[in-house]
Amino acid sequence: MRVAIIGTGYVGLTTGVCLAFIGHSVTCLDTDESKIRALREGHIPIYEPYLEEVLEEARPNLSFTSSYAEAIPDADVVFIAVGTPPTPSGAPNLEYLSQAARSIGQNGNGNFTVVVNKSTVPIGSGNWVGSLLRDAVEQSSNGHKTDFAVASNPEFLREGTALHDSLYPDRIVIGADEPRALETLYTLYRPILDQTFPAPVFLPRPDNFAAVPLVSTDLASAELIKYAANAFLALKISFINEIGLVAERVGANITEVARGIGLDSRIGSRFLSAGLGWGGSCFGKDTAALIATAGEYGLHMPIVEAARTVNSRQRDRVVEKLLQELKILKGRTIGLLGLAFKPNTDDLREAPAIEIAQKLIDRGVRVKAHDPIASERFQREHGKMGVCLCPTAEEVADGCDALVLVTEWSDYRELEWEQLAKRMRNPFILDGRHALDGDKLVRSGLRYVTIS
Ligand SMILES: NC(=O)c1ccc[n+]([C@@H]2O[C@H](COP(=O)([O-])OP(=O)(O)OC[C@H]3O[C@@H](n4cnc5c(N)ncnc54)[C@H](O)[C@@H]3O)[C@@H](O)[C@H]2O)c1
Repeated sequence: MRVAIIGTGYVGLTTGVCLAFIGHSVTCLDTDESKIRALREGHIPIYEPYLEEVLEEARPNLSFTSSYAEAIPDADVVFIAVGTPPTPSGAPNLEYLSQAARSIGQNGNGNFTVVVNKSTVPIGSGNWVGSLLRDAVEQSSNGHKTDFAVASNPEFLREGTALHDSLYPDRIVIGADEPRALETLYTLYRPILDQTFPAPVFLPRPDNFAAVPLVSTDLASAELIKYAANAFLALKISFINEIGLVAERVGANITEVARGIGLDSRIGSRFLSAGLGWGGSCFGKDTAALIATAGEYGLHMPIVEAARTVNSRQRDRVVEKLLQELKILKGRTIGLLGLAFKPNTDDLREAPAIEIAQKLIDRGVRVKAHDPIASERFQREHGKMGVCLCPTAEEVADGCDALVLVTEWSDYRELEWEQLAKRMRNPFILDGRHALDGDKLVRSGLRYVTIS
Protein backbone atom coordinates (compact mmCIF):
# COMPACT_ATOMS: atom_id res chain seq x y z
CA MET A 1 0.00 0.00 0.00
CA ARG A 2 1.04 3.64 -0.40
CA VAL A 3 1.44 5.39 2.93
CA ALA A 4 2.21 8.96 3.97
CA ILE A 5 3.42 9.75 7.47
CA ILE A 6 2.94 13.33 8.65
CA GLY A 7 5.50 14.23 11.33
CA THR A 8 8.88 12.52 11.29
CA GLY A 9 9.68 12.51 15.00
CA TYR A 10 10.15 9.58 17.39
CA VAL A 11 6.77 8.05 16.46
CA GLY A 12 6.42 9.07 12.80
CA LEU A 13 9.91 8.02 11.76
CA THR A 14 9.71 4.67 13.56
CA THR A 15 6.28 3.96 12.08
CA GLY A 16 7.36 4.96 8.59
CA VAL A 17 10.52 2.89 8.71
CA CYS A 18 8.69 -0.21 10.02
CA LEU A 19 5.86 0.03 7.47
CA ALA A 20 8.44 0.41 4.69
CA PHE A 21 10.40 -2.52 6.11
CA ILE A 22 7.35 -4.81 5.86
CA GLY A 23 6.89 -3.84 2.22
CA HIS A 24 4.71 -0.73 1.97
CA SER A 25 5.70 2.29 -0.07
CA VAL A 26 6.13 5.08 2.48
CA THR A 27 6.64 8.83 2.23
CA CYS A 28 7.66 10.54 5.47
CA LEU A 29 6.78 14.22 5.62
CA ASP A 30 7.91 16.88 8.07
CA THR A 31 7.60 20.64 7.98
CA ASP A 32 11.05 20.81 9.62
CA GLU A 33 13.12 20.93 6.45
CA SER A 34 16.41 20.40 8.28
CA LYS A 35 15.13 17.01 9.49
CA ILE A 36 14.10 16.00 5.98
CA ARG A 37 17.44 17.14 4.57
CA ALA A 38 19.30 15.14 7.21
CA LEU A 39 17.21 12.02 6.52
CA ARG A 40 17.76 12.30 2.78
CA GLU A 41 21.49 12.54 3.41
CA GLY A 42 21.36 9.42 5.59
CA HIS A 43 21.54 11.13 9.00
CA ILE A 44 19.01 10.16 11.65
CA PRO A 45 17.91 13.14 13.74
CA ILE A 46 17.12 11.10 16.88
CA TYR A 47 18.84 8.35 18.83
CA GLU A 48 16.87 5.12 18.75
CA PRO A 49 18.54 1.69 18.81
CA TYR A 50 18.27 -0.22 15.48
CA LEU A 51 16.51 2.66 13.69
CA GLU A 52 19.49 3.19 11.41
CA GLU A 53 19.77 -0.52 10.56
CA VAL A 54 16.05 -1.01 9.82
CA LEU A 55 15.99 2.25 7.84
CA GLU A 56 18.86 1.06 5.66
CA GLU A 57 17.00 -2.17 4.85
CA ALA A 58 13.75 -0.28 4.21
CA ARG A 59 15.32 2.53 2.17
CA PRO A 60 14.12 1.28 -1.26
CA ASN A 61 10.52 1.71 0.00
CA LEU A 62 11.09 5.06 1.73
CA SER A 63 11.15 8.67 0.66
CA PHE A 64 11.33 11.93 2.62
CA THR A 65 9.69 15.25 1.79
CA SER A 66 8.41 18.53 3.18
CA SER A 67 5.78 18.84 0.47
CA TYR A 68 2.18 17.80 1.11
CA ALA A 69 1.55 18.02 -2.64
CA GLU A 70 4.16 15.29 -3.07
CA ALA A 71 3.15 13.01 -0.19
CA ILE A 72 -0.65 13.08 -0.08
CA PRO A 73 -2.22 12.62 -3.54
CA ASP A 74 -1.17 8.99 -4.09
CA ALA A 75 -1.49 7.81 -0.49
CA ASP A 76 -4.04 5.13 0.45
CA VAL A 77 -3.34 5.78 4.13
CA VAL A 78 -2.09 8.97 5.79
CA PHE A 79 -0.84 8.78 9.38
CA ILE A 80 -0.78 11.94 11.46
CA ALA A 81 2.11 11.65 13.94
CA VAL A 82 2.75 15.30 14.80
CA GLY A 83 3.47 16.48 18.33
CA THR A 84 0.65 17.28 20.75
CA PRO A 85 2.61 19.07 23.50
CA PRO A 86 0.91 20.22 26.71
CA THR A 87 -0.48 23.72 27.24
CA PRO A 88 -0.51 25.38 30.69
CA SER A 89 -4.15 24.24 31.21
CA GLY A 90 -3.17 20.59 30.77
CA ALA A 91 -5.08 20.25 27.50
CA PRO A 92 -2.78 19.37 24.59
CA ASN A 93 -1.84 21.88 21.93
CA LEU A 94 -3.70 20.71 18.81
CA GLU A 95 -2.32 23.38 16.51
CA TYR A 96 0.04 20.97 14.68
CA LEU A 97 -2.73 18.41 14.32
CA SER A 98 -5.13 20.92 12.79
CA GLN A 99 -2.46 22.27 10.42
CA ALA A 100 -1.70 18.72 9.30
CA ALA A 101 -5.39 17.84 8.80
CA ARG A 102 -6.01 20.97 6.71
CA SER A 103 -2.95 20.35 4.55
CA ILE A 104 -4.02 16.74 3.97
CA GLY A 105 -7.54 17.86 3.04
CA GLN A 106 -6.20 20.37 0.53
CA ASN A 107 -3.99 17.85 -1.24
CA GLY A 108 -6.16 14.80 -1.94
CA ASN A 109 -6.45 13.52 -5.51
CA GLY A 110 -10.08 12.42 -5.37
CA ASN A 111 -9.45 8.81 -4.35
CA PHE A 112 -10.58 7.20 -1.11
CA THR A 113 -7.97 7.86 1.62
CA VAL A 114 -7.87 6.78 5.26
CA VAL A 115 -6.48 9.44 7.61
CA VAL A 116 -5.20 7.95 10.84
CA ASN A 117 -4.58 9.77 14.10
CA LYS A 118 -1.46 8.19 15.52
CA SER A 119 -0.65 11.24 17.61
CA THR A 120 -2.08 11.00 21.12
CA VAL A 121 -5.14 13.21 20.85
CA PRO A 122 -8.09 13.98 23.12
CA ILE A 123 -11.30 12.03 22.85
CA GLY A 124 -13.36 13.49 20.03
CA SER A 125 -10.34 14.39 17.89
CA GLY A 126 -11.25 11.81 15.25
CA ASN A 127 -14.53 13.63 14.60
CA TRP A 128 -12.77 16.98 14.68
CA VAL A 129 -10.12 15.90 12.17
CA GLY A 130 -12.95 14.61 9.96
CA SER A 131 -14.60 18.03 9.97
CA LEU A 132 -11.28 19.80 9.26
CA LEU A 133 -10.69 17.48 6.30
CA ARG A 134 -14.18 18.09 4.90
CA ASP A 135 -13.78 21.88 5.26
CA ALA A 136 -10.37 21.74 3.55
CA VAL A 137 -11.77 19.64 0.69
CA GLU A 138 -14.57 22.19 0.21
CA GLN A 139 -12.09 25.06 0.10
CA SER A 140 -9.51 23.22 -1.97
CA SER A 141 -8.72 24.76 -5.31
CA ASN A 142 -7.45 21.56 -6.96
CA GLY A 143 -10.97 20.48 -7.95
CA HIS A 144 -10.66 17.00 -6.34
CA LYS A 145 -13.38 15.87 -3.93
CA THR A 146 -11.33 13.35 -1.98
CA ASP A 147 -13.31 10.89 0.09
CA PHE A 148 -11.60 10.67 3.51
CA ALA A 149 -12.37 8.30 6.37
CA VAL A 150 -10.78 8.94 9.78
CA ALA A 151 -9.38 6.27 12.09
CA SER A 152 -7.54 6.27 15.39
CA ASN A 153 -4.49 4.04 15.79
CA PRO A 154 -2.83 5.00 19.08
CA GLU A 155 0.85 4.31 19.46
CA PHE A 156 2.28 2.36 22.39
CA LEU A 157 5.97 2.21 21.47
CA ARG A 158 8.56 2.93 24.14
CA GLU A 159 11.52 5.09 23.18
CA GLY A 160 14.64 2.97 23.46
CA THR A 161 12.81 -0.14 22.23
CA ALA A 162 10.67 1.55 19.59
CA LEU A 163 11.59 -0.74 16.69
CA HIS A 164 10.99 -3.88 18.70
CA ASP A 165 7.67 -2.51 19.97
CA SER A 166 6.53 -1.60 16.45
CA LEU A 167 7.43 -4.92 14.84
CA TYR A 168 6.36 -7.09 17.80
CA PRO A 169 3.66 -5.08 19.57
CA ASP A 170 1.55 -6.35 22.50
CA ARG A 171 -1.54 -5.28 20.52
CA ILE A 172 -2.69 -3.04 17.70
CA VAL A 173 -5.67 -0.82 18.45
CA ILE A 174 -7.74 0.56 15.59
CA GLY A 175 -10.72 2.80 16.18
CA ALA A 176 -12.95 3.60 13.25
CA ASP A 177 -16.60 4.37 12.82
CA GLU A 178 -16.51 3.33 9.14
CA PRO A 179 -15.84 -0.36 8.29
CA ARG A 180 -13.86 0.54 5.15
CA ALA A 181 -11.30 2.43 7.26
CA LEU A 182 -10.89 -0.60 9.49
CA GLU A 183 -10.54 -2.91 6.47
CA THR A 184 -7.81 -0.73 4.97
CA LEU A 185 -5.81 -0.66 8.19
CA TYR A 186 -6.29 -4.36 8.71
CA THR A 187 -4.72 -4.95 5.28
CA LEU A 188 -1.91 -2.53 6.06
CA TYR A 189 -1.03 -4.18 9.37
CA ARG A 190 -1.63 -7.76 8.30
CA PRO A 191 2.09 -8.71 8.04
CA ILE A 192 2.56 -7.52 11.63
CA LEU A 193 -0.71 -8.97 12.93
CA ASP A 194 0.11 -12.38 11.42
CA GLN A 195 3.90 -11.97 11.87
CA THR A 196 4.53 -13.02 8.27
CA PHE A 197 7.38 -10.58 7.53
CA PRO A 198 10.98 -11.85 7.68
CA ALA A 199 12.41 -10.59 10.97
CA PRO A 200 15.53 -8.39 10.78
CA VAL A 201 18.61 -10.37 11.89
CA PHE A 202 19.49 -7.77 14.49
CA LEU A 203 15.91 -7.70 15.90
CA PRO A 204 14.84 -11.34 15.92
CA ARG A 205 11.22 -12.28 16.52
CA PRO A 206 10.74 -13.20 20.20
CA ASP A 207 10.27 -16.93 20.88
CA ASN A 208 6.69 -18.18 20.50
CA PHE A 209 5.56 -14.80 19.13
CA ALA A 210 3.09 -15.88 16.46
CA ALA A 211 0.35 -13.26 16.20
CA VAL A 212 -0.60 -9.85 17.53
CA PRO A 213 -4.04 -9.22 19.05
CA LEU A 214 -6.10 -6.64 17.16
CA VAL A 215 -8.47 -4.46 19.15
CA SER A 216 -10.89 -3.01 16.63
CA THR A 217 -13.27 -0.54 18.13
CA ASP A 218 -14.93 2.83 17.67
CA LEU A 219 -13.02 6.11 17.50
CA ALA A 220 -13.76 7.34 21.01
CA SER A 221 -12.81 4.02 22.63
CA ALA A 222 -9.47 3.86 20.78
CA GLU A 223 -8.69 7.41 21.85
CA LEU A 224 -9.55 6.65 25.48
CA ILE A 225 -7.53 3.39 25.44
CA LYS A 226 -4.33 5.39 24.87
CA TYR A 227 -4.95 7.82 27.73
CA ALA A 228 -6.14 5.08 30.08
CA ALA A 229 -3.05 2.95 29.33
CA ASN A 230 -0.63 5.78 30.04
CA ALA A 231 -2.50 6.86 33.16
CA PHE A 232 -2.41 3.29 34.49
CA LEU A 233 1.32 2.92 33.87
CA ALA A 234 1.97 6.29 35.50
CA LEU A 235 -0.02 5.41 38.57
CA LYS A 236 1.71 2.05 38.90
CA ILE A 237 5.02 3.91 39.22
CA SER A 238 3.56 6.41 41.66
CA PHE A 239 1.99 3.61 43.68
CA ILE A 240 5.33 1.90 44.27
CA ASN A 241 6.90 5.26 45.09
CA GLU A 242 4.22 5.89 47.70
CA ILE A 243 4.81 2.43 49.18
CA GLY A 244 8.55 3.23 49.02
CA LEU A 245 8.06 6.17 51.36
CA VAL A 246 6.41 3.89 53.93
CA ALA A 247 9.08 1.22 53.37
CA GLU A 248 11.79 3.72 54.19
CA ARG A 249 10.12 4.77 57.44
CA VAL A 250 9.45 1.22 58.66
CA GLY A 251 12.82 -0.15 57.54
CA ALA A 252 11.48 -2.38 54.74
CA ASN A 253 13.33 -3.04 51.48
CA ILE A 254 11.27 -1.58 48.61
CA THR A 255 12.98 -3.73 45.97
CA GLU A 256 11.91 -6.87 47.86
CA VAL A 257 8.44 -5.45 48.43
CA ALA A 258 8.06 -4.69 44.70
CA ARG A 259 9.21 -8.20 43.79
CA GLY A 260 6.85 -9.69 46.34
CA ILE A 261 3.81 -7.92 44.96
CA GLY A 262 4.86 -8.01 41.30
CA LEU A 263 5.00 -11.79 41.20
CA ASP A 264 1.23 -11.79 41.67
CA SER A 265 0.07 -12.28 38.08
CA ARG A 266 -2.85 -9.92 38.69
CA ILE A 267 -0.33 -7.15 39.38
CA GLY A 268 2.75 -7.92 37.26
CA SER A 269 6.31 -6.89 37.99
CA ARG A 270 6.86 -4.20 35.37
CA PHE A 271 6.64 -0.49 36.19
CA LEU A 272 7.16 -1.26 39.87
CA SER A 273 10.63 0.23 40.26
CA ALA A 274 10.75 2.81 43.00
CA GLY A 275 12.86 5.87 42.37
CA LEU A 276 12.68 9.45 41.31
CA GLY A 277 9.60 8.94 39.16
CA TRP A 278 8.58 9.09 35.55
CA GLY A 279 9.60 11.67 32.96
CA GLY A 280 9.33 11.83 29.20
CA SER A 281 7.00 13.40 26.72
CA CYS A 282 3.98 11.21 27.41
CA PHE A 283 3.00 10.41 31.01
CA GLY A 284 2.94 13.99 32.29
CA LYS A 285 1.23 15.35 29.20
CA ASP A 286 -1.27 12.52 28.83
CA THR A 287 -2.33 12.38 32.49
CA ALA A 288 -2.84 16.16 32.39
CA ALA A 289 -4.86 15.83 29.18
CA LEU A 290 -7.02 13.05 30.64
CA ILE A 291 -7.79 15.16 33.70
CA ALA A 292 -8.59 18.13 31.42
CA THR A 293 -10.94 16.01 29.26
CA ALA A 294 -12.70 14.62 32.34
CA GLY A 295 -13.03 18.20 33.61
CA GLU A 296 -14.91 19.16 30.44
CA TYR A 297 -17.54 16.61 31.51
CA GLY A 298 -17.60 17.84 35.12
CA LEU A 299 -15.60 14.81 36.32
CA HIS A 300 -12.65 14.66 38.74
CA MET A 301 -9.95 12.00 38.47
CA PRO A 302 -8.52 11.80 42.00
CA ILE A 303 -6.44 8.69 41.31
CA VAL A 304 -4.74 10.19 38.26
CA GLU A 305 -4.24 13.49 40.07
CA ALA A 306 -2.63 11.67 43.00
CA ALA A 307 -0.26 9.85 40.63
CA ARG A 308 0.94 13.23 39.37
CA THR A 309 1.32 14.65 42.89
CA VAL A 310 3.38 11.66 44.05
CA ASN A 311 5.58 11.88 40.96
CA SER A 312 6.36 15.52 41.54
CA ARG A 313 7.12 14.81 45.23
CA GLN A 314 9.80 12.29 44.20
CA ARG A 315 11.86 15.09 42.66
CA ASP A 316 11.73 17.03 45.95
CA ARG A 317 12.92 13.93 47.75
CA VAL A 318 16.19 14.12 45.81
CA VAL A 319 16.83 17.55 47.30
CA GLU A 320 15.74 16.35 50.77
CA LYS A 321 18.17 13.40 50.65
CA LEU A 322 21.02 15.63 49.53
CA LEU A 323 20.22 18.08 52.33
CA GLN A 324 20.22 15.26 54.86
CA GLU A 325 23.68 14.21 53.73
CA LEU A 326 25.33 17.57 53.05
CA LYS A 327 23.33 19.85 55.43
CA ILE A 328 24.17 22.88 53.30
CA LEU A 329 23.74 22.84 49.52
CA LYS A 330 24.90 26.36 48.71
CA GLY A 331 28.39 26.26 47.25
CA ARG A 332 28.41 22.46 46.83
CA THR A 333 29.20 20.61 43.62
CA ILE A 334 26.78 17.85 42.69
CA GLY A 335 27.10 15.53 39.70
CA LEU A 336 24.21 14.01 37.77
CA LEU A 337 24.74 10.69 36.02
CA GLY A 338 22.28 10.63 33.14
CA LEU A 339 20.22 13.37 31.52
CA ALA A 340 17.84 11.57 29.13
CA PHE A 341 14.44 10.79 30.63
CA LYS A 342 15.32 7.10 30.43
CA PRO A 343 18.14 4.94 29.04
CA ASN A 344 18.60 4.27 25.31
CA THR A 345 17.07 7.53 24.13
CA ASP A 346 18.27 11.09 23.67
CA ASP A 347 14.83 12.48 24.50
CA LEU A 348 14.94 15.15 27.19
CA ARG A 349 11.28 16.13 27.25
CA GLU A 350 10.23 16.35 30.93
CA ALA A 351 13.44 14.55 31.88
CA PRO A 352 13.79 14.42 35.70
CA ALA A 353 17.42 15.55 35.34
CA ILE A 354 16.28 18.98 34.13
CA GLU A 355 13.95 19.56 37.07
CA ILE A 356 16.49 18.23 39.56
CA ALA A 357 19.32 20.33 38.08
CA GLN A 358 17.14 23.44 38.25
CA LYS A 359 16.16 22.80 41.88
CA LEU A 360 19.83 22.42 42.80
CA ILE A 361 20.96 25.47 40.81
CA ASP A 362 18.23 27.50 42.54
CA ARG A 363 19.82 26.48 45.87
CA GLY A 364 23.25 27.68 44.80
CA VAL A 365 24.69 24.31 43.77
CA ARG A 366 27.22 23.92 40.96
CA VAL A 367 25.77 21.09 38.84
CA LYS A 368 27.90 18.85 36.64
CA ALA A 369 26.44 16.13 34.42
CA HIS A 370 27.16 13.34 32.00
CA ASP A 371 25.00 11.35 29.59
CA PRO A 372 26.31 8.79 27.09
CA ILE A 373 23.97 10.04 24.32
CA ALA A 374 21.90 13.07 25.30
CA SER A 375 24.60 15.63 26.26
CA GLU A 376 24.68 17.27 22.84
CA ARG A 377 20.91 17.65 22.76
CA PHE A 378 21.01 18.98 26.35
CA GLN A 379 23.54 21.61 25.34
CA ARG A 380 21.35 22.62 22.38
CA GLU A 381 18.05 22.71 24.25
CA HIS A 382 19.08 23.61 27.83
CA GLY A 383 22.55 25.12 27.46
CA LYS A 384 21.40 28.30 29.20
CA MET A 385 20.75 26.50 32.51
CA GLY A 386 24.45 26.58 33.31
CA VAL A 387 24.98 22.85 33.89
CA CYS A 388 28.63 21.88 33.34
CA LEU A 389 28.60 18.94 30.89
CA CYS A 390 31.45 16.44 31.20
CA PRO A 391 32.59 13.93 28.57
CA THR A 392 32.92 11.11 31.13
CA ALA A 393 31.33 10.02 34.39
CA GLU A 394 34.81 10.17 35.98
CA GLU A 395 35.10 13.85 35.16
CA VAL A 396 31.68 14.45 36.71
CA ALA A 397 32.93 12.80 39.91
CA ASP A 398 36.00 15.09 40.14
CA GLY A 399 35.61 17.27 43.23
CA CYS A 400 31.92 16.39 43.73
CA ASP A 401 30.19 16.49 47.11
CA ALA A 402 27.58 14.01 45.85
CA LEU A 403 26.61 12.07 42.76
CA VAL A 404 23.00 11.38 41.79
CA LEU A 405 22.19 8.51 39.44
CA VAL A 406 19.30 9.97 37.44
CA THR A 407 19.16 7.74 34.33
CA GLU A 408 19.97 4.05 34.67
CA TRP A 409 22.19 3.69 31.57
CA SER A 410 23.76 0.23 31.72
CA ASP A 411 27.25 1.82 31.30
CA TYR A 412 26.98 3.27 34.79
CA ARG A 413 26.73 -0.19 36.36
CA GLU A 414 30.19 -0.98 35.01
CA LEU A 415 32.00 2.14 36.29
CA GLU A 416 35.24 1.81 38.28
CA TRP A 417 33.58 2.98 41.48
CA GLU A 418 36.71 2.80 43.60
CA GLN A 419 38.42 5.26 41.25
CA LEU A 420 35.36 7.48 41.17
CA ALA A 421 35.14 7.56 44.98
CA LYS A 422 38.75 8.74 45.17
CA ARG A 423 38.04 11.60 42.74
CA MET A 424 35.11 12.92 44.81
CA ARG A 425 35.43 15.47 47.59
CA ASN A 426 32.77 13.55 49.52
CA PRO A 427 32.15 9.99 48.27
CA PHE A 428 28.36 9.94 48.46
CA ILE A 429 25.97 8.59 45.84
CA LEU A 430 22.20 8.84 45.69
CA ASP A 431 20.87 6.10 43.43
CA GLY A 432 17.63 7.54 42.08
CA ARG A 433 16.77 4.36 40.17
CA HIS A 434 17.72 1.43 42.43
CA ALA A 435 19.97 0.48 39.55
CA LEU A 436 23.40 0.05 41.15
CA ASP A 437 24.89 -2.71 43.28
CA GLY A 438 24.81 -0.98 46.66
CA ASP A 439 27.09 -3.51 48.41
CA LYS A 440 29.72 -3.15 45.69
CA LEU A 441 29.59 0.64 45.95
CA VAL A 442 29.98 0.53 49.72
CA ARG A 443 32.97 -1.82 49.30
CA SER A 444 34.37 0.75 46.85
CA GLY A 445 34.31 3.40 49.54
CA LEU A 446 31.07 5.24 48.78
CA ARG A 447 28.18 6.05 51.05
CA TYR A 448 25.22 4.60 49.14
CA VAL A 449 21.65 5.85 49.55
CA THR A 450 18.52 5.19 47.49
CA ILE A 451 15.21 7.00 47.07
CA SER A 452 12.49 4.87 48.60
N1 LIG B 1 7.52 9.67 21.78
C1 LIG B 1 6.85 8.64 22.26
O1 LIG B 1 7.39 7.76 22.94
C2 LIG B 1 5.38 8.49 21.95
C3 LIG B 1 4.76 7.25 22.20
C4 LIG B 1 3.40 7.12 21.91
C5 LIG B 1 2.69 8.21 21.41
N2 LIG B 1 3.31 9.39 21.20
C6 LIG B 1 2.53 10.51 20.63
O2 LIG B 1 2.89 10.63 19.25
C7 LIG B 1 2.85 12.00 18.85
C8 LIG B 1 4.20 12.38 18.26
O3 LIG B 1 5.17 12.26 19.27
P1 LIG B 1 6.73 12.32 18.94
O4 LIG B 1 7.42 12.00 20.20
O5 LIG B 1 7.01 11.55 17.72
O6 LIG B 1 6.87 13.90 18.63
P2 LIG B 1 8.12 14.64 17.94
O7 LIG B 1 8.10 16.02 18.48
O8 LIG B 1 9.34 13.82 18.05
O9 LIG B 1 7.73 14.68 16.38
C9 LIG B 1 6.70 15.45 15.87
C10 LIG B 1 7.12 15.92 14.48
O10 LIG B 1 5.99 16.52 13.84
C11 LIG B 1 6.50 17.57 13.02
N3 LIG B 1 5.38 18.47 12.66
C12 LIG B 1 4.75 19.37 13.44
N4 LIG B 1 3.75 19.94 12.75
C13 LIG B 1 3.74 19.39 11.51
C14 LIG B 1 2.92 19.55 10.36
N5 LIG B 1 1.88 20.39 10.36
N6 LIG B 1 3.19 18.82 9.28
C15 LIG B 1 4.23 17.94 9.28
N7 LIG B 1 5.03 17.73 10.33
C16 LIG B 1 4.78 18.45 11.44
C17 LIG B 1 7.58 18.20 13.85
O11 LIG B 1 8.49 18.96 13.08
C18 LIG B 1 8.23 16.96 14.48
O12 LIG B 1 9.32 16.50 13.71
C19 LIG B 1 2.46 12.79 20.10
O13 LIG B 1 1.07 12.99 20.09
C20 LIG B 1 2.84 11.85 21.23
O14 LIG B 1 2.07 12.07 22.39
C21 LIG B 1 4.65 9.55 21.44
